[in-house]
Amino acid sequence: MIYDNIVLIGFMGSGKTSVGRVLAKKLFKDFVDVDSVIEEEQGSSISEIFETKGEEYFRGLEQKCINELTQKKGQVIATGGGVPIYSSISDKSLIIYIDADFDVIVDRLSVRERMKRPLFDDEEKARDMYNARIDRYKELATFSVDANQTIPTFIHVIVDYILDKRVL
Ligand code: S3P
Repeated sequence: MIYDNIVLIGFMGSGKTSVGRVLAKKLFKDFVDVDSVIEEEQGSSISEIFETKGEEYFRGLEQKCINELTQKKGQVIATGGGVPIYSSISDKSLIIYIDADFDVIVDRLSVRERMKRPLFDDEEKARDMYNARIDRYKELATFSVDANQTIPTFIHVIVDYILDKRVL
């Protein structure tokens, strides 16, 4: 199967955006980030959208955004952590799960990065959400990568998979 795009999924703060940037560069693809596209189109931050319009409204924007992005080909698309839960993703996408443990994510996230994420306000609630979501991430993924190390230590695992299987 030859896929149109690579879609990165995983929990908040697992490194989808950073991985996506590096991967796109290595594969000579365009990089897009769903949250950034939404922020640009709405002219406000994710936190502001949650605050003023609510989560349901945000989920609608996410579905619209991922639908529009996957009309095109040749991109590496980083999604927000809720996309696999609340949206459907085109089956022409190679879906890669960036699989990091919750404690690793907590250690990695700076205060500033946490502040950008309204659903990370309460760490215990975020942990429950993580546990509730991981099965869905695994089930949806074409391929999962252990992302508990730094990006340079696992990026080649993704690149090798893509080149070996000739899926793009
Ligand atoms: C969310 C994840 C966030 C962002 C929003 C909701 C979620 O993106 O879309 O705060 O429901 O997991 P990141 O996964 O990039 O943090």
